Amino acid sequence: MRVKIEKLDNFGRGITYLNGKIAFIENALPNEEVEIEIVKETKKFLEGKVIKYYETSKERIDVACPYYNVCGGCDLEHISLALENEFKEQKIKNILQKFAGVSKAISPIETKEAYSYRNKITFHVKNKKIGFYKNNSNDLIEIDYCLLANKKINSLIKPLKELAQKNDLVEIMIRTTNDEKEVLIHLKGNVSTYEEILPLVDVLIINDKVVTNSSSLITKIGTKSYHLSATSFFQVNKELTKDLYDEVLNAVKANSYEKVLDLYCGTGSIGLYISDYVKTVIGIDYNEANIKDAKENKKLNKSKNCEFICAKVEDVIDNYSDIDLIIVDPPRAGLKKSALDTIIKIKPRCLVYISCDVITLARDLNFLKEKYKIKMIKPFNMFPRTYHLESFCILNLK
Ligand SMILES: C[S@@+](CC[C@H](N)C(=O)[O-])C[C@H]1O[C@@H](n2cnc3c(N)ncnc32)[C@H](O)[C@@H]1O
Repeated sequence: MRVKIEKLDNFGRGITYLNGKIAFIENALPNEEVEIEIVKETKKFLEGKVIKYYETSKERIDVACPYYNVCGGCDLEHISLALENEFKEQKIKNILQKFAGVSKAISPIETKEAYSYRNKITFHVKNKKIGFYKNNSNDLIEIDYCLLANKKINSLIKPLKELAQKNDLVEIMIRTTNDEKEVLIHLKGNVSTYEEILPLVDVLIINDKVVTNSSSLITKIGTKSYHLSATSFFQVNKELTKDLYDEVLNAVKANSYEKVLDLYCGTGSIGLYISDYVKTVIGIDYNEANIKDAKENKKLNKSKNCEFICAKVEDVIDNYSDIDLIIVDPPRAGLKKSALDTIIKIKPRCLVYISCDVITLARDLNFLKEKYKIKMIKPFNMFPRTYHLESFCILNLK
């Protein structure tokens, strides 16, 4: 069947229509003319794959990664960064319009390098081979490098492959400081020898045991310093994280807020980033390792006005009132209904919502928009080459 691709769906697949049904076509771009084979048919949609390209898009690029479509990490390696950014802008516009009736206040996407942006990668190890699991499977694809990882991480794969030959490893996590000068490696599995890797790392953790003198690295974002440890959360995009945090800082500087709640605070990074411009910050996160690091980060930055609490947001948010600004940065599931209800009750003058899932963001904005005016929505291309994006929103009490 020869078809013309009309647009991209939310996952970067081409869309065409056949016999009144929508068809999703892998690896097909808008305006391309392709021969397809249907691989799945349901009552509502079809899925197909391309057999032959008659006309290709000028936005199609050569795929640089030999593991693309196998390792499951990237979705958009075959398209230019320009089209990727256009796709993400369109995606957020479509979803916010459809599920929240929001069409105004959406800024152009903020974007930087398409590759080498990740400061953290977790590799699986199987039968002494290092790599990633194929999509939805436990089959391992061995790799020599990952284009999304920074140079430092890639330089460690060869020595780690040698280490893997001498041990029974199951997982290797590598994390670097944002300047790529320091490295933390967390090995999991049965490790009998590790000395050869010591000169290459600043922090080595084997299962739960810290082998080196220190258990964390220290990295900088702007003027603030942050501990990076094995299990706590830290944003992976070394460049855009600063831009995202600067958006929060600008929103804070433009107003005078006294009491701030930083919900889903991770290691307290946003709260500390803005803490010089407000009276007090209370950060809440349910992960113990995050809150331990948040408290260490408070000491590291000599902060006197931040407090960090280990709890589920929905369990404790009721305890707060007289808050000027609430910052939320929830996981993909978005905000729990009870947390949304309490935010409405607390009535902060301003709500900053950072989201890594546009669908749940739309659901929550649809609820919040009755009491809050959406002042700004800015997408960030934090995860280039994948269909994921981060969004930054400012909402003001009506
Ligand atoms: C996207 S991260 C936020 C990170 C942080 N704002 C930053 O920029 O580094 C989401 C955080 O929410 C926390 N979390 C998830 N569900 C939670 C809940 N119900 N209550 C409290 N924290 C939660 C996770 O531990 C994680 O640190």
